[in-house]
Amino acid sequence: MATMKPLVTDLVSTINHVPSNFIRPLGDRPDQLQLQSTIHDFIPIIDLQGLNSSNRSQVIQKIEHACQNYGFFQIVNHGVPEGVVANMMKVSKEFFNLPESERMKNYSDDPLKTTRLSTSFNLKTEKVSNWRDYLRLHCHPLEDYVHEWPSNPPSFREDVAEYSKQVRKLALRLLEAISESLGLEKNYINKALGKHGQHLAINYYPPCPEPELTYGLPAHADPNVITILLQNDVVGLQVLKDGKWITINPVPNTFIVNIGDQIQVISNDRYKSVLHRALVNNEKERMSIPTFYCPSPDAIIKPAPQLIDNDHPAQYKEFDYNEYYKKFWNRGLSKETCVDMFKA
Ligand code: OGA
Ligand code: NI
Repeated sequence: MATMKPLVTDLVSTINHVPSNFIRPLGDRPDQLQLQSTIHDFIPIIDLQGLNSSNRSQVIQKIEHACQNYGFFQIVNHGVPEGVVANMMKVSKEFFNLPESERMKNYSDDPLKTTRLSTSFNLKTEKVSNWRDYLRLHCHPLEDYVHEWPSNPPSFREDVAEYSKQVRKLALRLLEAISESLGLEKNYINKALGKHGQHLAINYYPPCPEPELTYGLPAHADPNVITILLQNDVVGLQVLKDGKWITINPVPNTFIVNIGDQIQVISNDRYKSVLHRALVNNEKERMSIPTFYCPSPDAIIKPAPQLIDNDHPAQYKEFDYNEYYKKFWNRGLSKETCVDMFKA
């Protein structure tokens, strides 16, 4: 039976309709007209070149504005070499083009496994499935995880390791800039993350016969610190701004950065972790590759004392990231963000 296929990638060639377990209830379906309309709003585009020049403070101001008003921004001149990005995209596509039996060697439904191929979000907790397969990896410290990664395609480990190292450098620069934009010392957030962590997902959204009935990913906020997203040229990402879904047009050679829940906590609500989602379409496969920069599991997260005063009492209690991360995966994606469960 067609629906026995664990991955959407393999299911799609056997069906003409979306199987019932993917169909969202009425009232919770994507607005496809929005995706097709040619006029798309935008989120700020920030040129990071200026971070290393006398323009640094202007760039920091732009970051502050974007974090306060959108929770999202796009970056150009980000310093990750084009060739490294191209290899990452290429090897990711090659992975999802491998025969089913080869890909399935990496399959697991356990969210706590550090390397795994899976589907939807969390099959164990969700009622409706999502039109997405994903390969998820831990990539920092690299030497702890690289031996777990797929060894097919043959260049996978080398290409993904190089990409992860480059994106980590970028993440650290962004964390300095975000710290400064909050009026904190440059290495404040860096120091707050314990030994640091870095996860990577390769999201694969196959074409969908009835994209108006289901999501690639429903609305959610990211649980980590910041997310740095690479995507192919197929539209799909939407960001909630003033109660309206903004469709993000892919721009070549940019990354999309968003604030995660841990920055919301550290900034004591000055910056919000914003809801976003991914729609699918019936023509083209979409790929997105988010890097989730995060604290190490043992890191204690709390609002920065410098951002607490009589007018701004602490909004969150202290917690360790491990506790947060487990809660995120166990409760399922939802519009009530996970961070609300850690309110003071
Ligand atoms: C995610 C995510 C968006 C996209 O993986 O957390 O929000 O465009 N992905 O795939
Ligand atoms: Ni996300």
